[in-house]
Amino acid sequence: MDQIIYPDLSIIILGHVDHGKTTLAKALTGQWLSKHSEEIKRGLTIKLGYSDFTIYRCEDHGYFTEKICPICGKENAIIKKISVVDAPGHESLLMIMLTGAAIVDAAILVIAANEPVPQPQTLEHLIAFKYMGNKPLIIVQNKIDLVSKEEAIKNYNDIIDLLKKLEIDIKNVKIIPISAINNININYILEALIDIKKDNRDINSDPIFLISRSFDINKPGTDIEKLVGGILGGALLKGKLKKDDNIEIRPGLFIDNQWKPIKTKIVSLKQGNIDVDEIIPGGTAGIGTNLDPFVTKEDTLAGQMLGLENKLPNQYNEIKVKYEIIKELFNSSEKMQKGEDITVVLYNMISNGIIKNMEKNNMITIKLERPILGYENDRVLILRKINKRWKIYAIGELIN
Ligand code: GTP
Ligand code: MG
Ligand code: MG
Repeated sequence: MDQIIYPDLSIIILGHVDHGKTTLAKALTGQWLSKHSEEIKRGLTIKLGYSDFTIYRCEDHGYFTEKICPICGKENAIIKKISVVDAPGHESLLMIMLTGAAIVDAAILVIAANEPVPQPQTLEHLIAFKYMGNKPLIIVQNKIDLVSKEEAIKNYNDIIDLLKKLEIDIKNVKIIPISAINNININYILEALIDIKKDNRDINSDPIFLISRSFDINKPGTDIEKLVGGILGGALLKGKLKKDDNIEIRPGLFIDNQWKPIKTKIVSLKQGNIDVDEIIPGGTAGIGTNLDPFVTKEDTLAGQMLGLENKLPNQYNEIKVKYEIIKELFNSSEKMQKGEDITVVLYNMISNGIIKNMEKNNMITIKLERPILGYENDRVLILRKINKRWKIYAIGELIN
């Protein structure tokens, strides 16, 4: 019998388009996660990809993702299970990347060693992740098979300079040269992942589950009696959730011109892909509900928050934010205007809004199209539209 180990660390793979994120996810998990037809056609990740993998150790030969040591053929010991989220790198898919980044415990930033540093989304993903809670970060220099030793060293130094410029503590960031497509140095990534400790899990607060995807797992034509209720995927930020808990999802559904919370019950739980009775923070998780699968199909509930009935944080239609412009990302001097359309990101929730009021001390009031939930002092990202693309502009603090 295999010892059961639950995935208790989730990572997102970030980085500029085509730097090799999905290839690295394949090297780690054995699966190609960009499998939708449009993604295959365009060679581009469009949706978040999800998978799990296990880190094993051979006493004599180190860490592997295989159960049997490929060198001596002996059975390896299970060390750790990890959930992986593969993000899209294309600049137009920033919001999708942000939803993924909100739900994970740590990130791997993939930087192609054969291109100048930083490429636009290298910078954007790095900064966004930094402001989403200073979570552990591993950087890989990918495609080292395409560069000389000198070029690889130059690329490494450019990465160090970038981290210093962004005031990211380089002591806490490992930089690993790899070739994802040739499976080179993947074992060093495994070691770095094992070193990530999560010691400050909060399991006593009211639970907050961030939904990053939702679906209907029934095959078309299934008998009504055999229909399985809607499934929600994402991660538990804090607290615990148990089978039979009465839960609510907010902001919920927009019906008769207002947002109505969705109330339901937990009928099943998965930590990673393993059935459990209770989930705690760490890794990604799945929640089976009594909801009509129509309500959850095709990610309709992605970007919503779930918790126990009447225990979620406050919900706001209008927020007041004290902000600071992120200079490294936004080099236009154009100021925000009253009436301007902006986008706000808080946890996994993304909402368009209009600037309703501006005060002198970097304080703005934003009227939201879709309510968000949060606590005072929570960090929000503010995005502005520049040349038809949403760009991260400022980091703010929820004042309300
Ligand atoms: P998006 O999802 O579109 O942002 O791209 P991605 O970062 O997921 O890149 P992907 O893994 O799709 O790889 C892009 C291209 O780089 C593919 O042609 C890969 O085969 C190639 N590639 C990935 N890793 C390596 C590597 O280590 N060496 C070389 N030479 N090519 C690589
Ligand atoms: Mg990809
Ligand atoms: Mg690609």
